[in-house]
Amino acid sequence: MKVAIDMGATTGAAPATLDLEELLATRLLVQGNSGSGKSHLLRRLLEQSAPWVQQCIIDPEGDFTTLSEKFGHTVVDATRTEAELTRIAARVRQHRVSVVLNLEGLDVEQQMRAAAAFLGGMFDADRDFWYPVLVVVDEAQLFAPAAAGEVSDEARKLSLGAMTNLMCRGRKRGLAGVIATQRLAKLAKNVAAEASNFLMGRTFLDIDMARAADLLGMEKRTAEQFRDLARGHFIALGPAISRRPLPVTIGAVETSARSTSPKLTPFEAPVDAADLIFTADPDEAIRPVVRRAPAPPPPSTNDLLAQLSRARPPAEEAPVTLFPEIDEAERDAQIDAIMAELLGDPDASFRTVAVLYQDFLVRCRIRRVPGEPPALPAFKRRLAVARVAPDKEVAQSDGWQQALTMSETLTEDVQGVFLVLAQAALTSAPCPSDATLARLYGTHSSSRARRLLTWFEERGLLVVRLDFRQNRVVAFPDLSAETAAGDPNGPDAMADVRGAAE
Ligand SMILES: Nc1ncnc2c1ncn2[C@@H]1O[C@H](COP(=O)(O)OP(=O)(O)O)[C@@H](O)[C@H]1O
Ligand SMILES: [Mg+2]
Repeated sequence: MKVAIDMGATTGAAPATLDLEELLATRLLVQGNSGSGKSHLLRRLLEQSAPWVQQCIIDPEGDFTTLSEKFGHTVVDATRTEAELTRIAARVRQHRVSVVLNLEGLDVEQQMRAAAAFLGGMFDADRDFWYPVLVVVDEAQLFAPAAAGEVSDEARKLSLGAMTNLMCRGRKRGLAGVIATQRLAKLAKNVAAEASNFLMGRTFLDIDMARAADLLGMEKRTAEQFRDLARGHFIALGPAISRRPLPVTIGAVETSARSTSPKLTPFEAPVDAADLIFTADPDEAIRPVVRRAPAPPPPSTNDLLAQLSRARPPAEEAPVTLFPEIDEAERDAQIDAIMAELLGDPDASFRTVAVLYQDFLVRCRIRRVPGEPPALPAFKRRLAVARVAPDKEVAQSDGWQQALTMSETLTEDVQGVFLVLAQAALTSAPCPSDATLARLYGTHSSSRARRLLTWFEERGLLVVRLDFRQNRVVAFPDLSAETAAGDPNGPDAMADVRGAAE
């Protein structure tokens, strides 16, 4: 019963194969910084193994929903109650349907709760339905974080418990965990430790390298090789792959799976998959609904910026109408102009948002901006965006669009700082000093600014390093860009402007 999953090539051009049956018994951990090719690797594994085994993907970004077209996975949108997700998961096992749990658009806490509910349903399935399932969790550090974060303790416990069950006690129930993480040091140790197979990709940070060396039983020096791995290149080790560390280049995706074994019967998904799992059996116990439907997402900074940067037609003479109407575009332009005035004041950065807002309201009245002025939350979003204002070329680049998308996961008060850093990276400008970052963050405290950088780093958004002169470089693996080296103790970039203004 040997099924060899073709993952790509080894150095000698020999195929790199994963023994599926062994994998089901011994689980897999994939680690590599953002952009190293983990999701691609998972997709390769899923595509190649789709004909052989039922699959469930816990998908924080909605990346894997495309598997439905070619491979027949049913997409389960996670914007449901937890009870409903648990019941769907039970039916997924009963009817052996391959699914993608799409968690896109939920906030971190909701993602944790939804994943916990779904994994719980898979885990608690009736003994009759303990068929093998490959359970793939991308960005596993979100669901099994090593340390308490900003989410509630309850959500963290639920999610961590579900992940621990999957990795530690899932085997008997047919659940085979395959987890990917960008930061090994951020992943709960007990969850990582249960995988016997590893695929290690590019790793920047010493602390992750040390954890990887530890897990693999390698010398730290040997683990240094992870630093220089190219995208799509991984070092493989484990009973399902190779008994010795083996360099592997992951192959292309969207290929059809090859059948290599005459013994295992191909896994056949039922034709009416969606019906089977979304429809309750008449005698299925209906448990009370625990989870509230999530609130609709707030309007995104992306939309706002797109709106702001859209070229406006030259202002025409206002048409004279009998009925005074509020011309939205004109009003928007007026508000933009007021925002620019506000921020033109060099001291603006050190005023609290509340003070700026008061000032803003007064200016709106003076300028007779029609209609209700924007409420405080809308004002804060405009402020974050207005503070960055990239030049046209950057504003239209893919990198900038991606930076905006990334910034949406952040609260308004830190979006500005994040975007300024991203802008510096995209233009290869020197990394802003602590003093500049502090001003952008609305504080005089450099240490608060540095803590914010650490916090971004912990969320996997960027990687901070110091060069040999102790100048700081901030890399954005997702944007494939990094800032030039900048002195963290340098003066505030605005200091000159202020000096000139005084
Ligand atoms: N082996 C590969 N061959 C070709 N392209 C790849 C390979 N691995 C990754 N890529 C591409 O590189 C980009 C980043 O890969 P991704 O899997 O999303 O990284 P990660 O999930 O580690 O952040 C994607 O556009 C992906 O298509
Ligand atoms: Mg990914």
